[in-house]
Amino acid sequence: MTGRIYLKLMAAVLGVLIVALASVDFFASRVAEASYLDTLEREMTDKGRLIARTFRADSIRDAAGAARGRVTLIARDGRVLADSEASADQMENHRGRAEVDAALNGAPGSARRKSATVGVDFLYVAVPAGEGALRLAVPLSEIDSQVDAIRRRMLAATAIAFLPVLLLTLPLARFIARRFRQLELSLECEHTELERVEQVRKDFVINVSHELRTPLASIQGYTETLLDGAIDDPNHNVRFLTIIRQNAERLANLTSDLLTLSRVELKQQRFQFASYDIGKLIEAAADSMKPLAAKKDIGLSIEHGDGTLEAFCDSEAVNQVVTNLTDNALKYTPSGGSVTMGARRAPNQNMVEVFVRDTGIGIPVGELPRLFERFYRVDKARSREMGGTGLGLSIVKHLVRSQGGDVRVTSEIGRGSEFSFTLPVEDLGLSEQGDIRGQLTV
Ligand SMILES: Nc1ncnc2c1ncn2[C@@H]1O[C@H](COP(=O)(O)OP(=O)(O)OP(=O)(O)O)[C@@H](O)[C@H]1O
Ligand SMILES: [Mg+2]
Repeated sequence: MTGRIYLKLMAAVLGVLIVALASVDFFASRVAEASYLDTLEREMTDKGRLIARTFRADSIRDAAGAARGRVTLIARDGRVLADSEASADQMENHRGRAEVDAALNGAPGSARRKSATVGVDFLYVAVPAGEGALRLAVPLSEIDSQVDAIRRRMLAATAIAFLPVLLLTLPLARFIARRFRQLELSLECEHTELERVEQVRKDFVINVSHELRTPLASIQGYTETLLDGAIDDPNHNVRFLTIIRQNAERLANLTSDLLTLSRVELKQQRFQFASYDIGKLIEAAADSMKPLAAKKDIGLSIEHGDGTLEAFCDSEAVNQVVTNLTDNALKYTPSGGSVTMGARRAPNQNMVEVFVRDTGIGIPVGELPRLFERFYRVDKARSREMGGTGLGLSIVKHLVRSQGGDVRVTSEIGRGSEFSFTLPVEDLGLSEQGDIRGQLTV
């Protein structure tokens, strides 16, 4: 591609040079021809005057040799008295020739035309000579060849003058071609990014519709069954109503998750940043999750480490993140297992790291990169059965990034997972500048 632009540029420059060269040639040859004719006319007039002074009719051929042209002597009445190339008595009366007419009237005259005698283009110059006129003639073909020589020399000189231009153009054209290529690449990138965003949007709409359809269909189906008579069947009516309630809850969860997600993504979520004792925030989240853990017979504990750790964050958002991670840990850990939460200083000293560890089913390594995408679930059927929407982790990711941190996960199938996220220790000024890291990146 770079090559093609380069070739086009060079062709354009060459084209311009050729046009310039052609115009120089056109005007230069005009000027050269005109000035050469002028000089020649003057020379011939001078020569004519000189010859007229010393002229003898019998030496007309010598005179022609000296003048390097044809010499004609014309009487006052226009009769040709002598000619260096034709016999005078066979030549017509020359009175009517413009140059002869001028000379007979006392002033030198000149003309260009085809000779009636020889049939070639001539330059004629006539001067008064005694009673009559003396005329010199040279064929214009000679002038043409002189002008051609001048032209060739001027063309060569102009071409040489253009050479540096051409040499300068080579690197310049290469530079411009490269710039074009860069521009083209960045446009391609933008295009790909736009296509990707469009695809994400389409996937999102498809996913949302799908997620809404399943519980709605279930609610619709069971409501109809009840209306069709099952409402009076004591063996089934309560079970059907329970299913309807579960699906309604799922719809409620889904809509609230979608709302949270779009608020974070559109940055409408106003964060209230402050310094918090992160251990306290974890305890508060753990307290709210205890009943659920107890119900599933899972031990929920907090690991106390490096003393008090402070984080600069939004307590509500942190609570939502920890709750989401703990909810997952409890959901994907079989009864009898354990979930441990805690905080530690991150390898980067300006950050603290919060973790939620479980002894659950674990996640295949291949699934980890996509885990934080919206609606992504490792085991779709199982997650749905548990009322999951697959939005929890993408909310977690956005909330964490909006606070200047990042999320990580390590996991081993059958042994458990550890989800962790970082938070800045000090104010990064996120509340004022509106954080770009919170933008949609799934
Ligand atoms: N602690 C965990 N152990 C094993 N798998 C997990 C764990 N946490 C998340 N996952 C997997 O990641 C998927 C995505 O989790 P996410 O929280 O986004 O969705 P969800 O829990 O299915 O639904 P919800 O939107 O209700 O949270 C889950 O469906 C599950 O397959
Ligand atoms: Mg979840």
